[in-house]
Amino acid sequence: MESERKRIFTILYGSQTGTAQDVAERVGRDAVRNSADLTVLNTSRMQFESHVKPMDDYDVSDLPDESLMLFVCATTGQGEEPDNMKKFWSFLLRKSLPANSLSGMNYGVLGLGDSSYQKFNFVAKRLHKRLHQLGARPLLPVGLADDQHDLGPDAVTVPFLESFYMKVLDVSPLPPGVKVIDSSILLPPKYEVKVLEGGLPDQVQNATRNVSDIYDLKNPWFAEVIHNKRVTATDHWQDVRLISFNIEKSFISYVPGDVAMIMPKNSPNDVQEILDTLELNGETVISIHERNPNAPLPPESILPSRCSLWQCFQDYLDIKSVPKRYFFELLSKFTPNELERERLQEFCSPEGANDVLDYCIRPKRSIVEALQDFPHATQAIPLEYLFDLIPSMKPRAFSIASSPKAHPGQLQVLVAVVQYRTKIKKPRLGVCSNYLAGLKQGDKVVLWVRKGTLRFPKQPSDLPVVMIGPGTGVAPFHSYILDEFHDDAKRHAKNGEPGRLLLFFGSRNRDKDYFFQPEYEHMMKSSPMLKVITAFSRDQDQKIYVQHRLREHSALVWDAVDRDALICIAGNSKQMPEAVREAIRDAIKENGGMTEEDASAYLARLEARGRLQMETWS
Ligand code: 2AM
Repeated sequence: MESERKRIFTILYGSQTGTAQDVAERVGRDAVRNSADLTVLNTSRMQFESHVKPMDDYDVSDLPDESLMLFVCATTGQGEEPDNMKKFWSFLLRKSLPANSLSGMNYGVLGLGDSSYQKFNFVAKRLHKRLHQLGARPLLPVGLADDQHDLGPDAVTVPFLESFYMKVLDVSPLPPGVKVIDSSILLPPKYEVKVLEGGLPDQVQNATRNVSDIYDLKNPWFAEVIHNKRVTATDHWQDVRLISFNIEKSFISYVPGDVAMIMPKNSPNDVQEILDTLELNGETVISIHERNPNAPLPPESILPSRCSLWQCFQDYLDIKSVPKRYFFELLSKFTPNELERERLQEFCSPEGANDVLDYCIRPKRSIVEALQDFPHATQAIPLEYLFDLIPSMKPRAFSIASSPKAHPGQLQVLVAVVQYRTKIKKPRLGVCSNYLAGLKQGDKVVLWVRKGTLRFPKQPSDLPVVMIGPGTGVAPFHSYILDEFHDDAKRHAKNGEPGRLLLFFGSRNRDKDYFFQPEYEHMMKSSPMLKVITAFSRDQDQKIYVQHRLREHSALVWDAVDRDALICIAGNSKQMPEAVREAIRDAIKENGGMTEEDASAYLARLEARGRLQMETWS
């Protein structure tokens, strides 16, 4: 009995969009305990009884009894923990917890992050440190997976988990006579899938709600499109949309800086293509059943447990994503063709990393395209394994561009439609932005709202706010500026403090992609409170960016900083935020008479006090 109890393994995750959840659930399925009433195929590699949960669903009073835990957690935005681990994290931070309260626990922490953000994997690093402080024993250093790595997060998660398993077997050896199950054995699929005769029940949308309802993935709002307008000139290279949704009858509320989470759908062409590739009929109706509590069913709001294959591919399976290692591993087990198997196994081996890079990561080859390259495997995929082979669609986050005061009952997002080319002939199209661009008035979209990282001053406020938002980065500032003007007009104080709201906006051309130009010109005329400084990168020979304008207006920037201004940066996460920080640091250095070191320390203090905030995306 004692040895049985020891082989319990708890895996907790903190996941914002579902990626950390996918990893945690996969580990959970890989680690199931050998049990007499299961067949060999139902037995998994590590012979553990595993439990997988979001951290906030875990009963913290069980912590002192845990002997083996794995934490998989994402870091969101500016170093914040995902929503579903906030309670757990604040519990762990309690000062009253004794230093050795977790001394019976062996653990690993695997972080999922993006090194283009300053606080790369901040949450995982802090969690790792805190668990150690509380007496738990790390089996290995914290794993820091990076979206920016050429090979994606797999480059870290795969070797991290391999060494984690090795360490686990060191501290918790298998009972005598029991072996680790060979990884070439095909584990059972995550769901039980049955083909049904007959039609589908109607989907229930926007059932009666209460004010207290929490909107999230399991309980989203089906928001009707009010309008979908192109805001760039028709001859401009990029299509950018301002899309307005009706949230009037919902109890959704938001403030400037909040973020809309939107669940995209695959296009009918893409759905048809994968159905043809897999030789399946979209009208086939299936039912999906849970077979393992560590793999909960898709939320009914996204995919009902009785659905058509068309619905599966349109609403739930991310068929346009780039295949991960696990995809190749599974295909290698299905293919009856020796050559295909060799190639697929090569992709899964450490030596094959460069091949994977060239084959699918660099050119952004999709799952549909990869399936077409392995026809023997594709013919042999059992229907049940579709949900193992293809990851689930993840919601995308958009900073809200509308103002709750100026646009009551509406929520607007500003979306740049993503389209680019790689060495693959067919252009690559961003799934969510192209889905949104194709929406017509009256179409319904699955959405909900969550807190953003930008926190504007509570109204009414006289605090100067400096906003730097090139491109669609202007969205959260647009929301805030409109809100402020609405308030100001109401208070009949049409002359709020001159230049209190300072917006640095950048785009390519004044005539082609200066979003909201008429509104800003009108507002600047009606009140000196707003000053918009523009940087049009391609209206002259030399590129001019927002950071150049910040340098030109460094005295203005310093004046605001000196008056304890809030500075916010939003937009693309590549080089812009860093270049803007440097320009602000230099403004502080020159005008405040500081050394570079002092100015950097000053900036760090502004950040620590929440006076410098960033919301960036890639
Ligand atoms: P570009 O495309 O002409 O290089 C919004 O996308 C604006 O941000 C465009 O004018 C774009 O200019 C500009 N931009 C591109 N890279 C930037 C960077 N590193 N810093 C600031 N702005 C940048």
